[in-house]
Amino acid sequence: MLIRNRPDIASSDITPHSVYLRRRDILAGAVGIGVSAMLPLRTARAAPVAAQKSAFSTDETPTRREDATSYNNFYEFGTDKADPAAKAGSLKPSPWSVKIDGLVRKPATMTLEDILKPVMLEERIYRLRCVEGWSMVIPWIGFPLADLIKRVEPLGSAKYVAFETLVRPEEMPGQRGLFQPLPWPYVEGLRLDEAMHPLTILATGMYGETLPNQNGAPLRLVVPWKYGFKSIKSIVRISLVETQPPTTWKALADDEYGFYSNVNPEVDHPRWSQATERRIGEGSGLFAKRRPTLMFNGYGEQVAHLYSGMDLRANY
Ligand code: MTE
Repeated sequence: MLIRNRPDIASSDITPHSVYLRRRDILAGAVGIGVSAMLPLRTARAAPVAAQKSAFSTDETPTRREDATSYNNFYEFGTDKADPAAKAGSLKPSPWSVKIDGLVRKPATMTLEDILKPVMLEERIYRLRCVEGWSMVIPWIGFPLADLIKRVEPLGSAKYVAFETLVRPEEMPGQRGLFQPLPWPYVEGLRLDEAMHPLTILATGMYGETLPNQNGAPLRLVVPWKYGFKSIKSIVRISLVETQPPTTWKALADDEYGFYSNVNPEVDHPRWSQATERRIGEGSGLFAKRRPTLMFNGYGEQVAHLYSGMDLRANY
């Protein structure tokens, strides 16, 4: 059994949101006076945050925090897996605001604090399967994207949700200079029913702490049944739209990266098989153990109905 059935909630596990924000402020102050400047980069901004445990968590062992925060894809900071941890210290995740617009009754530009005010944070331990063939198990802290979308009251004509990452070359070295690996902003999209699915979350933390910059601070998407590139980081805009929005990787190589990008061991990437994966932390090189990749990354029971009647080979 990969999905736990019973929520295991103790009231002591829940940090009131005002306390969470105060902790962040105290920490931001500490950075200001140089106290945490002496801490290693990866822990410099992390503030502890407890969250309600979720029935949607897998009971698999989480990947080591050091691996999940040092082996990243975040091209705004470079294309090497080590670049985000080394270079994302220049990103300023506070203050932060997100524009929510398009086909909604109540468009708004919300600060992160506005977004989080009515939210009860949850810990969701999810598998993350990257299209490149590796996977991790991450204890995210976040809340259902559906809760935020409902607040802006989508119109009946809204069929898709489009997401955009920050463009700030002065803080993002990958957006400067002659070689820029992607067109900016990084953009992603979901069908509205995928976005409203209870497994789809916006994460603000991981491993019991606020999100490190390299993992997409202060707010990133997590869609556990899709390849990792759908999990767009450092989001500044969410738009409800009528037609399928452009997505960065599909725009770059349409035959390799589809709009849906559901994890599917039966549909190979044109250049490699997707049948198995290497779980980060389970050996490397010749000694790497490979495990079978599961349909919809193991979340089929919850999400397969979203695609009934669709040809998943054509809609990759
Ligand atoms: N979001 C932005 N803005 N830029 C990126 O380069 N990379 C994606 C996704 N989100 C990316 C992004 C890819 S390819 C993956 S696998 C995941 O982030 C990696 O998330 P992680 O570093 O937290 O494991």
